[in-house]
Parts: sequence; structure tokens; C-alpha cells
Amino acid sequence: MQIKTVMVIGAGQMGSGIAQVFAQSNFDVKLNDISEASLEKGIASIEKNLNRSVQKGRLTEVEKVEIMERLSTTTSLQDASDCDLVIEAVVENMDVKGKVFKQLDEITPAHAILASNTSSLPITEIAAVTNRPEKVIGMHFMNPVPVMKLVEIIRGLATSDETYEAIETTTKALGKTPVEVNDFPGFVSNRVLMPMINEAIYTVYEGVATPEAVDEVMKLGMNHPMGPLQLADFIGLDTCLYIMEVLHEGFGDSKYRPCPLLRKYVKAGWLGKKSGRGFYIYGE
Ligand code: NAI
Repeated sequence: MQIKTVMVIGAGQMGSGIAQVFAQSNFDVKLNDISEASLEKGIASIEKNLNRSVQKGRLTEVEKVEIMERLSTTTSLQDASDCDLVIEAVVENMDVKGKVFKQLDEITPAHAILASNTSSLPITEIAAVTNRPEKVIGMHFMNPVPVMKLVEIIRGLATSDETYEAIETTTKALGKTPVEVNDFPGFVSNRVLMPMINEAIYTVYEGVATPEAVDEVMKLGMNHPMGPLQLADFIGLDTCLYIMEVLHEGFGDSKYRPCPLLRKYVKAGWLGKKSGRGFYIYGE
């Protein structure tokens, strides 16, 4: 099947990046959000990224204008009625995603593939709210989307081979590398990454070392480009807590118990970079 027109739902840090890479790869993209302010912010961040590419000589001014012309914004899901592919990147909440997929199932044409960028929620459960579970799939981009090469593609229980192949081809058309995984809590990326971040938070909680020291050990000692606590701040501490809860509940194993310090920070509204404070302080 030929994918030409795409809708991205949610214009936050992930959705705007996803919209950008699709527009850069010649797809027509509709960016949807319930909030006009989020749409404006999303488009502004795409334009800022493209301007930086122009300054660095990676893109011409004409190409930038063409990319921006392929992007449109809307607050109405009805505009998905002519889309071949929809990628949902709204908040990490099953109720919200369930409602979005139910509506999309009614609005989009029968051939359309419905993908979710969820970090951890079960694709099989999201698919079950629709009448086309064979056309529902996980398309998990990494943050920041324009930079990171990986797309983890998650097959739900009912996802068809045809759907998988269409998404694999599309991922390659974006210049990204697809990796196929099955639907289990945290998939591969967050099942491996989040327990490490959680353990790093435990080392701070238990007074083993400061956040700076933990990050320095992992950067210099393990050759990680960024320490786990800085990475947690970038991902968002609320998202990190949510993913640990999904792992804890999904596997019922105490090794996934979220660190009490992580809970405390989230309760305090210290959500990392996006709120100005997490393990580090930002924007001062
Ligand atoms: P965000 O909070 O930056 O953006 C979410 C956006 O969704 C907001 O603009 C909000 O207005 C919008 N929204 C909420 N409900 C909506 C609805 N019903 N219809 C349309 N728009 C709606 O969140 P972020 O970080 O972009 O995450 C989005 C998804 O991507 C989540 O599922 C998250 O788990 C996943 N993800 C996040 C990564 C990260 O590093 N932050 C990495 C990979 C996946």
C-alpha cells in the first residue's frame, strides 16, 4: 500500500518531531492537537529546527519552505478522513489513547493504518478498542526524533504482516532504522533503559552518590553519551514513573518497583527539563 497522507496526533515534544521527519521525507502531514497553543508551539519548534539546518548548510531555504508547506495543523480529528496513516503521540494514558483510537477507527478510511508512539502501553490493548486490530501497530520513535535513528516497531497480537511491512517500509523512507519487537511491557527499549534509570535514582536516594557523580560514572566509565539522571530529566520524570509502573504491574516483579524518590519528585512537580527542575535545574 502507498502511504502519502499522514496525521500526527499530539503536537508535544514527540509529535512535533514525528511531523517534522515525515514532512522532510515528502509526506503530506496534518498535525493535530486539542490545544491551539500546543500546535503553535509544535510548529515553532519545527521551524526552529529547520532554520538551524539551513544555517548549518544541511538544507536550503527553498527546501525549508517546501517542508513547511507540506505541514498543516488542525484541532479536528475529522481531518483524518483522507489519511493513509495516523500516528498517535498524545499523553501516555490508556484512557486518552483508547478514546482517540476509537474515534480514529470511525473516521479514517478502511485501508488506514493506526500507529501509536506509546513508550510502554500495550499495543494489543489499544488495538482491541478498534474494529481493525490487524491495522494497529506500535511505531516508537526516540527523543529527539529528528536526530535519533531508531524506530522500535511493535507488533500487537493481531497486527498483520502487511501492516508490519508497510510500517517497516515507511520507517526506512524516513531514513530511520526499524527494529521489530513483540508486545510486552516496556517493549525492548524501556524494559532495558528504565530499570537502569530507576537504579540510578536509587543510588541518589540511598546517598551512594550525588546526581552529578552518578552521571559522571556512567558517561566516563560506560561511555554513555549522557548520564541516566540527565536522560531521565530529558524524557520527563512523570513519563519515567509511568513506565516503571507499567513494568511493575505488567511483570509483577519487585525488581521494577519505582524508586520512592522518583515518586516524590513527580508529586512535587519536578518533572525534569520541561518543568525547569528535576535532578538538575534548567533555564536559569
Ligand atoms: P507531551 O506532553 O510533550 O505532548 C503531548 C501532547 O498531546 C500535548 O500537546 C497535548 O496537548 C496533546 N494531547 C493530549 N490529549 C490529546 C488528544 N486527545 N488529542 C490530541 N492531542 C492531545 O508528550 P510527549 O513527550 O510528546 O509524549 C507523547 C507520547 O510519546 C507518549 O505516549 C509518550 O510515552 C511517548 N514517548 C515519549 C518519549 C519522550 O522521550 N518524551 C519518547 C518516546 C515516546
